[in-house]
Amino acid sequence: MNVHDSERMLGILRGEGFVPVDDPGEADLVVFNTCSIRQKAEQKFYSQLGRTKKLKRNNPSMKIAVAGCIAQQEGKALMGRMPYVDLVIGPQNLKRVGGALTVAGGVYTGENPDIATEEIPACRSKGVRAWVNIMYGCNNFCSYCVVPYTRGRERSRPAGNIVSEIEKLAAQGYREVTLLGQNVNSYKENLGFPALLERINGIDGLERIRFVTSHPKDLSTDLVHAIRDLEKVCEHIHLPLQSGSDRILGLMNRRYTFREYLEKIELLREAVPEIAITTDIIAGFPTETEDDHLATINAMMEIRFDGIFAFKYSPRPRTRASGMEGRLPDGLKGERLMEILSLQDEITELKNRELVGKGVEVLVEGPLEAIDGYLTGRTRTNKVVNFPKEDGLVPGCIVYTTIQVAHRHSLDGTLTVSHAE
Ligand code: 5AD
Ligand code: SF4
Repeated sequence: MNVHDSERMLGILRGEGFVPVDDPGEADLVVFNTCSIRQKAEQKFYSQLGRTKKLKRNNPSMKIAVAGCIAQQEGKALMGRMPYVDLVIGPQNLKRVGGALTVAGGVYTGENPDIATEEIPACRSKGVRAWVNIMYGCNNFCSYCVVPYTRGRERSRPAGNIVSEIEKLAAQGYREVTLLGQNVNSYKENLGFPALLERINGIDGLERIRFVTSHPKDLSTDLVHAIRDLEKVCEHIHLPLQSGSDRILGLMNRRYTFREYLEKIELLREAVPEIAITTDIIAGFPTETEDDHLATINAMMEIRFDGIFAFKYSPRPRTRASGMEGRLPDGLKGERLMEILSLQDEITELKNRELVGKGVEVLVEGPLEAIDGYLTGRTRTNKVVNFPKEDGLVPGCIVYTTIQVAHRHSLDGTLTVSHAE
């Protein structure tokens, strides 16, 4: 979401004649697009900001804008503490980066109800895959999460705007879109999410559709059927579990039990047997016991995810969990996180090995940097496949490969059939 917000801010700035420079010391304007999902992300920003302050000393006309979730969270106070910051722009107001050189001193952190209908140009990096917003904000208020406070209320973008943006992307040569929203399953704008997928599936030139993120409580049978029936919708879902313990899930305000989560997984696997399932897990939520942690470990062994993102619990301003008793020491959170990650490493490797000898469809992304004469791309299940190049294959081609060797984070394949377009 943040990377795409940066693409849109760049789109606005490009329209005003700005060009990117390699050396930040030479910049007229430095924009930080910040994340505050966990404390670590915040720390990274503050140390980078400190470095930029020094650059500004040698280049006093430089303007510094802070955008994104830290901007929203800290607001005016950020400028009070760091007077060399010229502009503060929350994620709902990113269009305000326009005119940045003339409106120094501005703080734009109001709730913006028009966010879903504003059309902001994006300057995307070259490639075959593009991100597209379908909704903004979140109403779920999971007790650990700062997003509802920084990105505001949930708002869906009109389907017509989404479809016409993707039609243009397809005409420009993009082959895959990833639809973005904090909770795409609750997309509602005359039509629901499965119907939106059906409309996007009809766009000529587009080959693949992905979406993030889904909330388990809103995953409907209709969506499962859409994944099964719409040929462009990829066989992959990112479905954050967060914890395998019902007690912790309750404290997290996730509004499902582990059993209910498992039932959704069963529904998905029944309808789409080859589907890849990835997840997010939080280690060491307040009051988490050894038994709660074991419930998460057991859940991972039972489900066998294709991949996970796991994090130590990090208290966030204004969230309900940040006021809970029973915080765990950092060392213990770290131990549990390591256990989770190393179990997943084993599972990922075993799952990758199961693919050896199988044929898979790959969307070619480009040359593999590390090995000359190789191309790289992804399967529909979002796994990276590297394979020896063949004449005529360019980024955007769909090829068929047979998997020869499995690594932890990628697969080696050889071409079975190819069709250069
Ligand atoms: N601490 C740790 N992890 C968090 N996430 C969100 N908020 C926190 C927090 N306060 C994780 C969740 C979410 C992912 C995007 O980030 O797992 O799914
Ligand atoms: Fe945060 Fe929960 Fe909303 Fe996801 S669904 S953005 S975890 S509040």
